[in-house]
Amino acid sequence: SKPAVLVTGGAGYIGAHTAKALSERGFFPVVFDSLSSGFREAVQWGAFVHGDIRDTRALAEAISDHGVKSVIHFAGLIEVGRSVAQPDIFWEINVGGTVSLLTAMRERGVERLVFSSSAAVYGQGGRGPLETIPESAGKAPASPYGDTKLACEWMIEAQCRAYGLTAVALRYFNAAGADPSGRIGEAHEPETHLLPLAIAAGLGEGKPLTVFGEDFDTPDGTCLRDYIHVNDLAAAHVAALEVDLPAGAYEAVNVGTGQGHSVREVVEAVGRALGRPVPHSIGARRAGDPPSLVADASRARDLLGWEPVCSTLDRIVADALRWEAQPAYGSGRRAGGRKAETAS
Ligand code: UFG
Repeated sequence: SKPAVLVTGGAGYIGAHTAKALSERGFFPVVFDSLSSGFREAVQWGAFVHGDIRDTRALAEAISDHGVKSVIHFAGLIEVGRSVAQPDIFWEINVGGTVSLLTAMRERGVERLVFSSSAAVYGQGGRGPLETIPESAGKAPASPYGDTKLACEWMIEAQCRAYGLTAVALRYFNAAGADPSGRIGEAHEPETHLLPLAIAAGLGEGKPLTVFGEDFDTPDGTCLRDYIHVNDLAAAHVAALEVDLPAGAYEAVNVGTGQGHSVREVVEAVGRALGRPVPHSIGARRAGDPPSLVADASRARDLLGWEPVCSTLDRIVADALRWEAQPAYGSGRRAGGRKAETAS
């Protein structure tokens, strides 16, 4: 039978794309999700367990019921701005949830973990605008969100040493795009990410885009980010699960392309794809935005044998556009509506 992989947060954006990639690779994804921000409709591969990451018993049961041998842990809160306003729930869900998961794994003898970390662990740093970030770079998170990701990394690393857990933390740069099938894609409530907002503005379905600052120390004055196609990101998770590592090993690996694109370049790419310019204005800087976040992506290649294959900006925009023009779920924001809150 197919090896079962517990995918916490598998009804979310990156989790759903990873569940598809796992399934295509011969694994059986067991999606564990509270649906507080994910979508039941996004769970199209493997099994679904409705539960909260803080519920250690429910996790242990899901592990035993499905004969889970390894875990990919996505479940958590991701909005940087909200983490500043409500740091307590970020610690409770992101850090407390990871404590809960590690407890369930240890109790049931699951010894392999891939963890969703973030370039947010690096923060502003003292880098020049064109400097890429290696994994060894200083860690100075600029938000409670980044703090919780770094705290989870430390906790996981310590449990690798103490208990022989084997783990890879993947530090994502900017996930973007959608599966080309159009069956799954990005759907956040509220949406704060650049590409979906630029597309909505371009389609005339959202507000005109506000570019957050054009006076950064970067080539065109707008922020540089390293946009990685969500399917490339999904493939990195499969590679991190399969890579041969000694028991007790802990690895932290950047997942990016090594190539930065400015906000202006993204807006122009969307305009090109739509055949008309994206309505936008220049606004103030957003608090906490580093001028540049671009990965040194060499370690992912060396350790995981992984390389991006579909992360050109035009490909990311084309796939995102196919999805955004016809989202299969999560389109409540278009109608100005709000997805019903699911009790967690
Ligand atoms: N931007 C705008 N206007 C908008 C939205 C975004 O100009 O309406 C700009 C931002 O200032 C930034 C760039 O577009 O320069 C990308 O912004 P996103 O919000 O799409 O992504 P971030 O780089 O802020 O955030 C991502 C992840 C976070 C993670 C962070 C740092 O979504 O989870 O990278 O690693 F914390």
